[in-house]
Amino acid sequence: MRRIDLLGVDEVPLGTMKMAWADGTDQVLIINSNGDLAAVQGTCSHEYFELDKGFLTAGTLTCALHLSRFDLESGEPLDPPADLPLAVYDVVVEGDRIMIEVPDGSLEIND
Ligand code: FES
Repeated sequence: MRRIDLLGVDEVPLGTMKMAWADGTDQVLIINSNGDLAAVQGTCSHEYFELDKGFLTAGTLTCALHLSRFDLESGEPLDPPADLPLAVYDVVVEGDRIMIEVPDGSLEIND
């Protein structure tokens, strides 16, 4: 396993989300929906579209391009047209830093 340092805790206030770069190449979206931090792949599993342009509602993230909603815990799509789940990463807060803990190797991204 390895940890990737992404953002400061104060960069993602309650009810917001922010895109970060992992390994300089992969986008990861950090979401603070209800005081719980979640981390998902930064682009949609349907087509290449950045998910920080989407909308947060209770426990879900809606992609702004074709309006599929994704469950923030499982990453599963709740509406078409998306049919692949978003990759969800384990979040670790160390001091004032938000990190994800992921298996060694390249970051899992579903597309
Ligand atoms: S690109 Fe996200 S639902 Fe189509």
